[in-house]
Amino acid sequence: MTLTLGAVAAEAAGCTNCGLAQGRTQVVFGMGNPDADLMFVGEGPGAEEDKQGLPFVGRSGKLLDRLVAEEMGLTRDLCYIANVVKCRPPDNRDPKPDEIAACRPWLEQQVELIAPKVIITLGNFSSKLLLDTTTGITKLRGQSYPMGDMITTSAVVIPTYHPAAILRGGGLQEAQMRSDLVRARIAMSR
Ligand code: URA
Repeated sequence: MTLTLGAVAAEAAGCTNCGLAQGRTQVVFGMGNPDADLMFVGEGPGAEEDKQGLPFVGRSGKLLDRLVAEEMGLTRDLCYIANVVKCRPPDNRDPKPDEIAACRPWLEQQVELIAPKVIITLGNFSSKLLLDTTTGITKLRGQSYPMGDMITTSAVVIPTYHPAAILRGGGLQEAQMRSDLVRARIAMSR
């Protein structure tokens, strides 16, 4: 029997595989179209996401929605959005390696069930995890890659900055992120 994404989400809702479970309001599993051709993978939920139970609903998410609409002509209901860790790290600290490892099976199941054509990784954590590399995002971005050996999929991975970096940084990074989104749009039409 093949599991559905809804069944996996229901199971994840009670996850206690790492210490982040203690501090969360709720698991932020992911949202969007389970048949999407395009999937985004961020880092982990922030305060607003933890409250609402949905990914990228704060300032970063609003910026992401705008850039994706402008460069790809897509709204979030047509895509699927998930994170490397599904529970909010306290004080928005970086997720730790053991937390990433504990959460990885959920993301693997999401990628397998959605089977997107293109995965856009947002920032260092998701880019390093899916491409199985220690190279940082500044060097990685600007190209497309075959998926690392995380799971078997034919998805193309396009790493780009996390929108929070654009909010902190500015013009050059935003222009680079826009060009990465255009790269993704072209990859989706192949
Ligand atoms: N940042 C992330 O990486 N993910 C979210 O869901 C929100 C902010």
